[in-house]
Amino acid sequence: MDRTSAAPHRMDPAGGCPHAVNARLLAHGPVAPVVLPGEVQGMAVLGHEALKEFLAHPEVAKDARHFTALREGRIAPGWPLATFATVRGMTTADGADHRRLRALVSGAFTVRQVERLRPRVRELTDSLLDDLERAAARDGGVADLRGHVAMPLPMGVIGELLGVDAEHRDRLHHLSNQVVATDIGPERALAANRELVAVLGAVAAARAERPGDDLTSALIAARDEGGDRLTQEELIGTLMLMVIAGHETTLNLITNAVRALCAHRDQLDLVVRGAATWSDVVEETLRWDAPVSYFPFRYPVRDLTVGGTVIPRGTPVLAGYSAAGRDPAAHGPDADRFDVTRPGRPGAVRHLSLGHGAHYCLGAPLARLESTIALERLFTRFPGLDLAAPEADLAPHAGFVGNSVRALPVRVS
Ligand code: HEM
Repeated sequence: MDRTSAAPHRMDPAGGCPHAVNARLLAHGPVAPVVLPGEVQGMAVLGHEALKEFLAHPEVAKDARHFTALREGRIAPGWPLATFATVRGMTTADGADHRRLRALVSGAFTVRQVERLRPRVRELTDSLLDDLERAAARDGGVADLRGHVAMPLPMGVIGELLGVDAEHRDRLHHLSNQVVATDIGPERALAANRELVAVLGAVAAARAERPGDDLTSALIAARDEGGDRLTQEELIGTLMLMVIAGHETTLNLITNAVRALCAHRDQLDLVVRGAATWSDVVEETLRWDAPVSYFPFRYPVRDLTVGGTVIPRGTPVLAGYSAAGRDPAAHGPDADRFDVTRPGRPGAVRHLSLGHGAHYCLGAPLARLESTIALERLFTRFPGLDLAAPEADLAPHAGFVGNSVRALPVRVS
């Protein structure tokens, strides 16, 4: 059956909590036509099984050469989602090109390599918890967990891995935030993109002058080997991808996990009593409140039928991770329930929130390490930590790619 006749859903550039919309769309089927900002026609794959099939499909590309509207010049300059299509890096490459770009950095993100970062991540977390406590002491016991811990922890770690000097990190966070926002105008989007390229160019130049034991220096060495190992444009694209993917996501995960535990204290108690682990909390948060909500883009290289719906060749398709995480067809009738014992249950369906197939998240071990350490240190040190604002007052994060809240005020005790 072809369900493409359903009225397209207009993706809200301002974002907002995705779950109510996802449930409504999923009720019509696992694949939905959508209208992207700029009146660009797209599709979203939302059902767990359909998404799993689509992500690993051999006739689905990530290279924007397959994006018909872009190829035909129908995408305006400054289109808010352009970076996702045009940045030159592994996330917009297929086949051998993808393997070449991914191999240049993958060695730094193996479980073994990442495990070596554990003491440093712990140290950084503890110093950020000191900051959180100091900020709360200044402000009646309340401080923003997102700004004081969830953001600077992954930014600090990826900054150190890439050899980014501390003074560039806040600017990089701000710019990468702008680049992934779907609700800023074309001038601001273009300006943020240009500045991000310039700052990363300066980071690369500094490392070229004084190489260190960091990924940027390793990438520069690959570029300077010549041949077809890495072009300058790919070097900057790869740095951009590492900065954005390396912190925007983990920032949302830590924020969403703390929020979920505060709203479900019985689940926090299960961990404190040893009936579940911090890692269970991380996996359940990834499923229940996916940090990456709708990831742009993939393009079928021919008309494809997925989940009963035809996706025409060259259509930009969003991977609907937040919807798949709550798909009752995969996770059961209680898919909407936050249940930290679920990941350990026999037969529990694994979430897709870190991707699937060739583009599976490169930073998954790092994201898991950072988030489990952050939660464990936070709730061990402040067992009474709780939300300092009613749930209803938490403003959703801008844009529909990421899924979180703008700030998470907590009472630190
Ligand atoms: C890819 C999620 C943390 C680097 C992905 C994808 C997802 C994802 C869903 C697949 C995108 C797609 O093609 O549809 C997450 C989440 C994270 C996280 C939820 C944290 C909670 C990280 C970190 C890094 C990272 C810490 C560090 C470098 C990447 C890269 C890719 C990727 C480089 C592209 C891989 C490729 O195209 O081959 N991530 N990510 N991610 N992630 Fe992560």
